[in-house]
Amino acid sequence: MEPIIEFIKSNHDTYVEELKTFLRFPSISTLQENNEDMKNCAAFVADKLKGAGMSRVEIFATEGHPIVYGEWLGAPGKPTVLIYGHYDVQPVDPIELWNSRPFDPVIKDDKIYARGATDDKGQMYIHIKSVEAYFKVKGSLPLNVKFIIEGEEEIGSEHLGGFIQQHKDLLKCDSVLISDTSLYEAGIPTITYGLRGLAYMEVEIVGPNKDLHSGSFGGAVANPINVLAEIIAKLHDKKGRVTIPNFYDDVLPLTKEEKQNFKALNFSDKKFAKELEVKELTGEANFSTLERLWVRPTLDCNGIIGGFTGKGAKTVIASRASAKISMRLVPNQDPKKIAKSFTKYIKSITPNSVTVKVSDLHGAHPSLSPLTGKAIKAAAVSMQKAFGKKTVFMREGGSIPIVATFQRILKAPSVLMGFGLNSENLHSPNEHFSLTHFQLGIQSSAHFFEEYSK
Ligand code: BES
Ligand code: MN
Ligand code: MN
Repeated sequence: MEPIIEFIKSNHDTYVEELKTFLRFPSISTLQENNEDMKNCAAFVADKLKGAGMSRVEIFATEGHPIVYGEWLGAPGKPTVLIYGHYDVQPVDPIELWNSRPFDPVIKDDKIYARGATDDKGQMYIHIKSVEAYFKVKGSLPLNVKFIIEGEEEIGSEHLGGFIQQHKDLLKCDSVLISDTSLYEAGIPTITYGLRGLAYMEVEIVGPNKDLHSGSFGGAVANPINVLAEIIAKLHDKKGRVTIPNFYDDVLPLTKEEKQNFKALNFSDKKFAKELEVKELTGEANFSTLERLWVRPTLDCNGIIGGFTGKGAKTVIASRASAKISMRLVPNQDPKKIAKSFTKYIKSITPNSVTVKVSDLHGAHPSLSPLTGKAIKAAAVSMQKAFGKKTVFMREGGSIPIVATFQRILKAPSVLMGFGLNSENLHSPNEHFSLTHFQLGIQSSAHFFEEYSK
């Protein structure tokens, strides 16, 4: 492995320059106006896969954004790893809070700043460079590699599930390798073995047939904003539990063993609160912070729209108000089932003075990877070799919708070998990625090919 690792180290600056080019594509999947950028970004990924040594590269058009596929199957008898990542990114607003332009990457203190730097372009690019290094130094890979890089992760991977179903044979593999999660702490090699799922809902309340003068009508007609606020407030009880009937029915209890493993991570509530500048943490009673983040389902209002929000004052009762509400789910909750319970409950607590419409925007299944497979063990060893420290195992509060689908359709376990940090502002202004972790990621990936091929 020595020569490959040396090669990766000596090419660091080139890799960073290439990553900059990748980060310049404004590949925001949710905005129609960026559709052309999405296509160009997919073409860039395909081009880099070819350049890295993949023998077959194809861009598959979908009803949404293109999927990039690549393969090199020159190691018969050896395992096949499917590497998944996403080239789409989140919108940039609020743009005024960025210290540099989001699609004009800058490097400061060994970090690269740009939208998508850590989620997921920087992390995904790691594997393209490790493959390339292998080919350049050895002329071949020690195992079979397939890539599937999508452009719709940030909008729920709407078309990828169907694609996987239709291309089961093409995507056949022994394990799925994903770098789209975080390290427990800077410099600590980490494997994530659990992800939360999601049920994303919208609630719209309609009151009077037009906006009203709040003096002439206030007190006699229901105010949709007041009603909506009341409904939202009713979704939790005093102990921080979600009040939707049957919400917790399918939640798997935490095992003693996991409880102990979490404890051993020595998580500091104090430090966590301090970093976020909040005086105290909150949440469901009788669970630790890590338990509340990783193994307990939650409900949060993500946005609320209604009434007058401009500068100054306007006395008005708005005709309608709406809220985006999402629930993070844990094994074995089902997003469709939860969406139904949510809808039923919201309808049951809405007063007759207004009408309500509940929509199910999208969902994701939670996932849990067994800790015993060959791939996850190889990944832990590989990260340990690159970072020079013992690998820790953790779960994650965020979601990657397609992981459960890989498990269900391809029957392949996913290995989440992430290199980001939750403090790297993903989905937020000034997103960045540590270039040290970028370099160690490429080394970890190269070690993985070797370890997993054994
Ligand atoms: N890479 C993230 C998932 C993630 C978040 C991993 C935080 C580790 C830490 C992914 O791109 C993401 O943002 N997922 C969405 C999925 C949703 C849009 C269906 C999420 O979790 O909100
Ligand atoms: Mn991501
Ligand atoms: Mn994301």
